[in-house]
Amino acid sequence: GKSGYDHYMLKEIHEQPKAIRQCLRERVTELDSTVVVEELADLELSEPVQFVACGTSYHAAMFGAELLRERGIPAQTFLASEFGTDRVPIDESSLVVGVTQSGETADTMRALREANSVGATTLALTNTVGSSAARECDHVMYIRAGPEIGVAATKTFASQQVALAMLSSVLSAESSPAFVERLRALPDQIQQVLDESDARAVAETYEDSDAYFFIGRGFNESVALEGALKMKEITYKHAEGFAAGELKHGPLALVTDRTPVFALVTSERDAAKTLGNVQEVKARDAPVIAVTDVPEKVSEYADHVLEVPSAGPRFTPVLANIQLQLVSYWVANRLGRSIDKPRNLAKSVTVE
Ligand code: F6R
Repeated sequence: GKSGYDHYMLKEIHEQPKAIRQCLRERVTELDSTVVVEELADLELSEPVQFVACGTSYHAAMFGAELLRERGIPAQTFLASEFGTDRVPIDESSLVVGVTQSGETADTMRALREANSVGATTLALTNTVGSSAARECDHVMYIRAGPEIGVAATKTFASQQVALAMLSSVLSAESSPAFVERLRALPDQIQQVLDESDARAVAETYEDSDAYFFIGRGFNESVALEGALKMKEITYKHAEGFAAGELKHGPLALVTDRTPVFALVTSERDAAKTLGNVQEVKARDAPVIAVTDVPEKVSEYADHVLEVPSAGPRFTPVLANIQLQLVSYWVANRLGRSIDKPRNLAKSVTVE
């Protein structure tokens, strides 16, 4: 059941602390500063690492690839529908990682089968034990989010992000007490976001807008794309997410006083540049909602601040995403949408 929540989506948003605890269980412990993923004991790194996925899982894959590149491991992401051995150079020395919650997505399955057919090493990162992806691949890592009923992926996205962070540590054979501590702190920090979020008030302020934009750079780029996807899926409104630096290369032409811009500005390396982008949209009178762990740096330029705790450059974006999930949920709720089963969408897309 929905345990008292109006929708499975809201229940699953609130299950994220538990989902992340399950994902981390026995893989990171307070006794050790290393990450141990038992099922990946035999996995060897081959470069470049190529991720294939669709939709929300693709956004998680972008995050994972960025984490690997930060550790010096070449990594690329492909939409599964755009991946093929005729288009992407892969051979028996490649590692292809399929990120798929259901483990049944047709495009992702086809990509993994093609990778296997040329002898690449394949890894499935999935939520579903015994799924087609789990059976097809040489290796499997479970994200352990628990069943997700809402069509819009929420807790499984957070669990994918955390699983990919652990994978980056395993593949690079690099960890540190600080990294493990950041991971272990996440469930409580997510709980804090859930307890203190002002997302509902922000949603009510902007529920009548026809379009929403989401901007972020670095680890926040994938979160901006995911924020926009969630908004489209469940509110049926136009929403677009992009790398903040791309604003002035086109999208800025669409920015008016009627287009709220959600700006992900966390304590990252290039926060100052994103702040510059915030000023650009403010100059066009767009309402700005900053999602940030550094409110003192952004409040001057923002109409609203959705604050999150600091979790370092990699994981603060994971927390920022929770705020965006809540904003989309509350906009859709106010509009009376079919939140758990949006029109035209299915939980598992089994045709190409
Ligand atoms: C969005 C959503 C979809 C899925 C996509 C891939 O909320 O759920 O975009 O992420 O259909 O599904 P999986 O991860 O099962 O391969």
